[in-house]
Amino acid sequence: MKTTADFKKMKNSQEPIVMLTAYDAPSAKLAEKASVDTILVGDSLGMVVLGYESTVPVTMEDMIHHTKAVKRGARDTFIIADMPFLSYHASDQETFTNARRLIQDGGAHAIKMEGNGSVLEKAKKLVHGGVPVVCHLGLTPQTVGVMGGYGVQGKEAADAEKLLNDAETVEQVGASMLVLECVPESLAREVSNRLSIPVIGIGAGRDTDGQVLVYHDVIGYYSGHTPKFVKQYSTIGETIEASIQQFTNEVKSNKFPEEKHVFQPVDRLTSEIYG
Ligand code: KIV
Ligand code: NA
Repeated sequence: MKTTADFKKMKNSQEPIVMLTAYDAPSAKLAEKASVDTILVGDSLGMVVLGYESTVPVTMEDMIHHTKAVKRGARDTFIIADMPFLSYHASDQETFTNARRLIQDGGAHAIKMEGNGSVLEKAKKLVHGGVPVVCHLGLTPQTVGVMGGYGVQGKEAADAEKLLNDAETVEQVGASMLVLECVPESLAREVSNRLSIPVIGIGAGRDTDGQVLVYHDVIGYYSGHTPKFVKQYSTIGETIEASIQQFTNEVKSNKFPEEKHVFQPVDRLTSEIYG
Protein backbone atom coordinates (compact mmCIF):
# COMPACT_ATOMS: atom_id res chain seq x y z
CA MET A 1 0.00 0.00 0.00
CA LYS A 2 1.25 3.48 -0.84
CA THR A 3 1.55 5.98 2.00
CA THR A 4 1.75 9.76 2.32
CA ALA A 5 5.54 9.44 2.05
CA ASP A 6 5.16 7.62 -1.28
CA PHE A 7 2.86 10.34 -2.59
CA LYS A 8 5.48 12.94 -1.76
CA LYS A 9 8.16 10.87 -3.51
CA MET A 10 5.88 10.59 -6.54
CA LYS A 11 5.57 14.37 -6.64
CA ASN A 12 9.34 14.74 -6.46
CA SER A 13 9.93 12.24 -9.25
CA GLN A 14 7.04 13.71 -11.27
CA GLU A 15 5.07 10.47 -11.32
CA PRO A 16 1.40 11.50 -11.57
CA ILE A 17 -0.77 10.42 -8.61
CA VAL A 18 -4.07 8.75 -9.45
CA MET A 19 -6.96 9.28 -7.06
CA LEU A 20 -10.45 7.92 -7.69
CA THR A 21 -13.53 8.11 -5.52
CA ALA A 22 -15.36 4.94 -4.46
CA TYR A 23 -18.30 4.37 -2.17
CA ASP A 24 -18.80 0.63 -1.81
CA ALA A 25 -16.91 -2.66 -1.74
CA PRO A 26 -17.16 -3.77 -5.39
CA SER A 27 -16.21 -0.37 -6.79
CA ALA A 28 -13.30 -0.11 -4.34
CA LYS A 29 -12.13 -3.59 -5.31
CA LEU A 30 -12.12 -2.68 -9.01
CA ALA A 31 -10.31 0.58 -8.29
CA GLU A 32 -7.67 -1.36 -6.37
CA LYS A 33 -7.35 -3.98 -9.13
CA ALA A 34 -6.91 -1.16 -11.65
CA SER A 35 -4.06 0.08 -9.42
CA VAL A 36 -5.22 3.58 -8.51
CA ASP A 37 -2.78 5.11 -6.02
CA THR A 38 -5.42 6.19 -3.52
CA ILE A 39 -9.19 6.00 -3.05
CA LEU A 40 -11.27 8.94 -1.84
CA VAL A 41 -14.55 8.15 -0.13
CA GLY A 42 -15.94 11.51 -1.23
CA ASP A 43 -19.03 13.14 0.14
CA SER A 44 -19.96 13.30 -3.55
CA LEU A 45 -21.62 10.04 -2.54
CA GLY A 46 -24.54 12.29 -1.56
CA MET A 47 -25.18 12.95 -5.24
CA VAL A 48 -23.92 9.90 -7.09
CA VAL A 49 -25.11 7.23 -4.64
CA LEU A 50 -27.72 8.69 -2.28
CA GLY A 51 -29.66 10.84 -4.75
CA TYR A 52 -29.27 14.22 -3.02
CA GLU A 53 -28.87 17.51 -4.93
CA SER A 54 -25.59 18.40 -3.19
CA THR A 55 -23.09 17.15 -0.62
CA VAL A 56 -24.75 19.19 2.15
CA PRO A 57 -27.14 16.46 3.44
CA VAL A 58 -24.35 13.88 3.89
CA THR A 59 -23.85 12.83 7.53
CA MET A 60 -21.04 11.28 9.58
CA GLU A 61 -23.08 8.06 9.67
CA ASP A 62 -23.24 8.02 5.84
CA MET A 63 -19.48 8.58 5.63
CA ILE A 64 -18.62 5.87 8.15
CA HIS A 65 -21.01 3.38 6.54
CA HIS A 66 -19.51 3.88 3.07
CA THR A 67 -15.90 4.10 4.26
CA LYS A 68 -16.31 0.70 5.95
CA ALA A 69 -17.63 -0.78 2.71
CA VAL A 70 -14.74 0.69 0.70
CA LYS A 71 -12.27 -0.65 3.25
CA ARG A 72 -13.72 -4.16 2.91
CA GLY A 73 -13.27 -3.94 -0.87
CA ALA A 74 -9.78 -2.42 -0.92
CA ARG A 75 -7.64 -3.67 1.97
CA ASP A 76 -4.41 -2.65 0.28
CA THR A 77 -5.09 0.92 -0.85
CA PHE A 78 -4.64 4.23 0.96
CA ILE A 79 -8.16 5.45 1.78
CA ILE A 80 -9.08 9.09 2.34
CA ALA A 81 -12.54 9.87 3.76
CA ASP A 82 -14.29 13.24 3.48
CA MET A 83 -15.31 14.98 6.67
CA PRO A 84 -18.94 15.89 5.82
CA PHE A 85 -20.79 19.22 6.04
CA LEU A 86 -20.27 21.04 9.38
CA SER A 87 -18.52 18.07 10.99
CA TYR A 88 -15.30 20.06 11.58
CA HIS A 89 -16.40 23.63 12.28
CA ALA A 90 -17.63 23.57 15.88
CA SER A 91 -15.39 22.54 18.77
CA ASP A 92 -11.99 20.89 18.50
CA GLN A 93 -13.45 18.03 20.48
CA GLU A 94 -16.24 17.42 17.97
CA THR A 95 -13.76 17.65 15.09
CA PHE A 96 -11.41 15.15 16.77
CA THR A 97 -14.28 12.77 17.50
CA ASN A 98 -15.47 12.86 13.90
CA ALA A 99 -11.98 12.37 12.46
CA ARG A 100 -11.35 9.55 14.94
CA ARG A 101 -14.58 7.82 13.88
CA LEU A 102 -13.67 7.92 10.18
CA ILE A 103 -10.28 6.42 10.97
CA GLN A 104 -11.01 3.97 13.82
CA ASP A 105 -14.56 2.95 12.88
CA GLY A 106 -14.48 3.51 9.12
CA GLY A 107 -10.92 2.35 8.47
CA ALA A 108 -9.76 5.47 6.59
CA HIS A 109 -6.04 6.28 6.55
CA ALA A 110 -6.60 10.03 6.18
CA ILE A 111 -9.43 12.56 6.29
CA LYS A 112 -10.18 15.43 3.93
CA MET A 113 -11.61 18.81 4.83
CA GLU A 114 -12.71 21.74 2.65
CA GLY A 115 -11.79 25.35 3.26
CA ASN A 116 -9.32 27.83 4.72
CA GLY A 117 -9.00 29.99 7.84
CA SER A 118 -10.27 28.28 10.98
CA VAL A 119 -10.56 24.98 9.08
CA LEU A 120 -6.78 25.01 8.63
CA GLU A 121 -6.33 25.65 12.36
CA LYS A 122 -8.39 22.50 12.94
CA ALA A 123 -6.27 20.68 10.37
CA LYS A 124 -3.11 21.65 12.26
CA LYS A 125 -4.47 20.22 15.51
CA LEU A 126 -5.52 16.99 13.82
CA VAL A 127 -2.06 16.58 12.29
CA HIS A 128 -0.58 17.22 15.73
CA GLY A 129 -2.75 14.38 16.99
CA GLY A 130 -1.43 12.06 14.28
CA VAL A 131 -4.22 12.30 11.74
CA PRO A 132 -3.09 12.55 8.11
CA VAL A 133 -5.07 15.44 6.66
CA VAL A 134 -5.89 16.23 3.03
CA CYS A 135 -7.12 19.78 2.43
CA HIS A 136 -9.47 20.91 -0.35
CA LEU A 137 -9.41 24.41 -1.88
CA GLY A 138 -10.85 26.13 -4.94
CA LEU A 139 -14.42 25.05 -5.52
CA THR A 140 -15.58 23.67 -2.18
CA PRO A 141 -18.96 22.01 -2.81
CA GLN A 142 -20.02 22.07 0.87
CA THR A 143 -20.27 25.87 0.61
CA VAL A 144 -22.63 25.78 -2.40
CA GLY A 145 -25.29 27.61 -0.42
CA VAL A 146 -22.92 30.49 0.32
CA MET A 147 -21.46 30.58 -3.22
CA GLY A 148 -24.92 30.39 -4.77
CA GLY A 149 -23.79 27.78 -7.28
CA TYR A 150 -20.77 25.98 -8.68
CA GLY A 151 -18.23 27.93 -10.73
CA VAL A 152 -14.55 28.19 -11.59
CA GLN A 153 -12.63 29.73 -8.67
CA GLY A 154 -9.59 32.03 -8.59
CA LYS A 155 -10.21 33.76 -11.91
CA GLU A 156 -9.67 37.30 -10.55
CA ALA A 157 -6.10 38.20 -9.58
CA ALA A 158 -7.09 38.93 -5.97
CA ASP A 159 -8.87 35.58 -5.61
CA ALA A 160 -5.91 33.77 -7.16
CA GLU A 161 -3.54 35.47 -4.69
CA LYS A 162 -5.80 34.50 -1.79
CA LEU A 163 -5.88 30.90 -2.95
CA LEU A 164 -2.09 30.79 -3.25
CA ASN A 165 -1.77 32.08 0.31
CA ASP A 166 -4.31 29.54 1.56
CA ALA A 167 -2.43 26.77 -0.23
CA GLU A 168 0.79 27.81 1.51
CA THR A 169 -1.03 27.70 4.83
CA VAL A 170 -2.24 24.18 3.97
CA GLU A 171 1.39 23.11 3.65
CA GLN A 172 2.38 24.97 6.84
CA VAL A 173 -0.27 23.26 8.99
CA GLY A 174 1.20 19.91 7.99
CA ALA A 175 -1.41 18.60 5.55
CA SER A 176 -0.29 15.59 3.51
CA MET A 177 -1.97 16.62 0.26
CA LEU A 178 -4.10 19.32 -1.29
CA VAL A 179 -7.08 18.74 -3.58
CA LEU A 180 -7.65 21.69 -5.88
CA GLU A 181 -11.03 21.85 -7.60
CA CYS A 182 -12.14 23.94 -10.59
CA VAL A 183 -9.47 26.58 -10.95
CA PRO A 184 -7.66 27.86 -14.06
CA GLU A 185 -4.78 25.67 -15.19
CA SER A 186 -2.21 28.47 -14.70
CA LEU A 187 -3.20 28.96 -11.05
CA ALA A 188 -3.11 25.20 -10.34
CA ARG A 189 0.35 25.04 -11.91
CA GLU A 190 1.56 27.88 -9.68
CA VAL A 191 0.14 26.20 -6.56
CA SER A 192 1.71 22.85 -7.49
CA ASN A 193 5.09 24.51 -8.09
CA ARG A 194 5.04 26.44 -4.82
CA LEU A 195 4.06 23.54 -2.54
CA SER A 196 6.25 20.60 -1.60
CA ILE A 197 3.19 18.46 -0.79
CA PRO A 198 1.28 16.81 -3.66
CA VAL A 199 -1.52 18.81 -5.28
CA ILE A 200 -4.28 16.67 -6.79
CA GLY A 201 -6.46 18.44 -9.31
CA ILE A 202 -10.04 18.05 -10.48
CA GLY A 203 -10.91 20.55 -13.16
CA ALA A 204 -7.52 22.12 -12.40
CA GLY A 205 -5.69 21.40 -15.64
CA ARG A 206 -2.70 19.31 -16.68
CA ASP A 207 0.08 20.49 -14.37
CA THR A 208 -0.96 19.31 -10.91
CA ASP A 209 0.84 16.38 -9.23
CA GLY A 210 -2.13 14.10 -9.75
CA GLN A 211 -5.73 13.87 -10.87
CA VAL A 212 -8.93 12.85 -9.11
CA LEU A 213 -12.28 12.07 -10.68
CA VAL A 214 -15.57 10.71 -9.39
CA TYR A 215 -15.99 6.98 -10.03
CA HIS A 216 -19.42 7.31 -11.60
CA ASP A 217 -18.17 10.00 -13.99
CA VAL A 218 -15.21 7.89 -15.14
CA ILE A 219 -17.38 4.87 -16.00
CA GLY A 220 -20.41 6.79 -17.25
CA TYR A 221 -22.72 5.43 -14.54
CA TYR A 222 -24.64 8.66 -14.32
CA SER A 223 -27.22 10.15 -16.61
CA GLY A 224 -27.08 13.69 -15.25
CA HIS A 225 -24.96 16.64 -16.29
CA THR A 226 -21.28 15.88 -16.91
CA PRO A 227 -18.91 18.79 -16.22
CA LYS A 228 -16.31 19.92 -18.79
CA PHE A 229 -13.40 18.54 -16.75
CA VAL A 230 -14.74 14.97 -16.75
CA LYS A 231 -13.56 12.31 -19.16
CA GLN A 232 -15.97 9.40 -19.45
CA TYR A 233 -14.05 6.24 -20.26
CA SER A 234 -17.13 4.10 -20.76
CA THR A 235 -20.90 4.34 -20.78
CA ILE A 236 -21.65 1.62 -18.26
CA GLY A 237 -25.06 3.14 -17.47
CA GLU A 238 -26.24 2.23 -20.98
CA THR A 239 -24.95 -1.33 -20.56
CA ILE A 240 -26.73 -1.67 -17.22
CA GLU A 241 -30.00 -0.34 -18.58
CA ALA A 242 -29.84 -2.63 -21.64
CA SER A 243 -29.12 -5.65 -19.41
CA ILE A 244 -32.06 -4.90 -17.14
CA GLN A 245 -34.27 -4.32 -20.18
CA GLN A 246 -33.27 -7.72 -21.56
CA PHE A 247 -33.94 -9.42 -18.21
CA THR A 248 -37.38 -7.79 -18.16
CA ASN A 249 -38.13 -8.86 -21.73
CA GLU A 250 -36.98 -12.43 -21.12
CA VAL A 251 -39.08 -12.86 -17.98
CA LYS A 252 -42.12 -11.39 -19.73
CA SER A 253 -41.62 -13.71 -22.73
CA ASN A 254 -40.82 -16.80 -20.60
CA LYS A 255 -37.27 -17.01 -22.04
CA PHE A 256 -35.65 -16.86 -18.61
CA PRO A 257 -34.99 -19.05 -16.70
CA GLU A 258 -33.78 -21.79 -19.03
CA GLU A 259 -33.24 -25.44 -18.19
CA LYS A 260 -29.62 -24.81 -17.08
CA HIS A 261 -30.81 -22.38 -14.40
CA VAL A 262 -33.25 -24.84 -12.86
CA PHE A 263 -32.80 -27.19 -9.83
CA GLN A 264 -33.73 -30.82 -9.84
CA PRO A 265 -34.33 -32.94 -6.70
CA VAL A 266 -30.77 -34.35 -6.95
CA ASP A 267 -29.18 -30.90 -6.53
CA ARG A 268 -28.29 -30.64 -2.86
CA LEU A 269 -24.78 -29.35 -2.38
CA THR A 270 -24.02 -25.68 -2.02
CA SER A 271 -21.32 -26.10 -4.67
CA GLU A 272 -24.01 -27.22 -7.11
CA ILE A 273 -25.98 -24.07 -6.39
CA TYR A 274 -23.24 -21.44 -6.30
CA GLY A 275 -20.80 -23.09 -8.69
O1 KIV B 1 -16.43 14.32 -2.79
C1 KIV B 1 -15.64 14.20 -3.74
O2 KIV B 1 -15.78 13.33 -4.62
C2 KIV B 1 -14.50 15.11 -3.79
C3 KIV B 1 -13.65 15.07 -5.02
C4 KIV B 1 -14.40 15.59 -6.19
C5 KIV B 1 -12.36 15.76 -4.83
O3 KIV B 1 -14.29 15.85 -2.86
NA1 NA C 1 -15.95 15.98 -1.35
